[in-house]
Amino acid sequence: MSWGYREIVKASGRSVHALPEVLPQTLHYSPVLWGQSRASINMTEPADPSTDGPFLLDIKEIRKRAREHIERGAVTPEYKSNRTEVIRILNEALATEIVCVLRYKRHQYTAAGINAIPVAAEFAQHATEEQGHADMIAARITQLDGEPNFNPEGLLTRAHSEYKEGKTLVDMIQEDLMAERIAIDTYSEIIRYLGNNDSTSRLMMEKILSMEEEHAEDMKTLIATVDKDGHLRNARN
Ligand SMILES: [Fe+2]
Ligand SMILES: [Fe+2]
Repeated sequence: MSWGYREIVKASGRSVHALPEVLPQTLHYSPVLWGQSRASINMTEPADPSTDGPFLLDIKEIRKRAREHIERGAVTPEYKSNRTEVIRILNEALATEIVCVLRYKRHQYTAAGINAIPVAAEFAQHATEEQGHADMIAARITQLDGEPNFNPEGLLTRAHSEYKEGKTLVDMIQEDLMAERIAIDTYSEIIRYLGNNDSTSRLMMEKILSMEEEHAEDMKTLIATVDKDGHLRNARN
C-alpha cells in the first residue's frame, strides 16, 4: 500500500496543523517522525536500514578490511563518495582559494599605495584566511589519496571565481564581494553534493562557507566606508 499525506495524518492521529513543514510524501520515514513502530501501522514497505533497526557493527569484518590496502590511509572501503570526483571538485575549490589569495594580495598592496590603510588591512586579513582555506582543502585532497593541483597553468579555468584587479577602492571591494558571492554559491553546491557520503569533506566545506559569508558581509560593510570617487570617507587620501 502506498501511504500518502492523508494516510500519514490518519495513522498519526495528529491534527494536520501539527505536521511539520516538510512532510515526507510516503510513510517510509514517518514512523521515525511520529515515534510509531512499523508493526502498529501495518506497513508493508521494506524496512529502510538507514532509519530502522539497532546500530550494529561487524567489527570483525571492519578490522579485517582495515588491514587491507593500508597504504590508502584514511580511505577505507566504507568511503561512500566517488573519490575521483570529490578530488576533482576539491581541486577546483583549491584553485578558487588560490585565485582569491592572489586577488586580495593585489588589492592589499594597491590600496596601501593609495593610502587606504584600513581597507588594505582588511584585504590582507582575507588573503591570509583564503590561504588557510587553500591549506585545508589541499590537506583533505592528500588525505583522500589525491594530488592537490597547485599548477599555475589553467588555474583560472579551474577556479570558480575570477581575478579582477579593479582601478579604484570601490572597484576592488566590489570585485572581492562578487568573488565571495560566487564562492558561497559554488561551495553550497559542493556541500549538497557531498551530503552524507563524505562527512569530513562536507564539514570542512561548511566551515569554509561560513567564513566566505563573513567575508562577503565584510566587503558589503567596507563599501559604505568609501565614497563614489573611491576615497575613504572621513579620511585624507
Ligand atoms: Fe576562502
Ligand atoms: Fe573569502
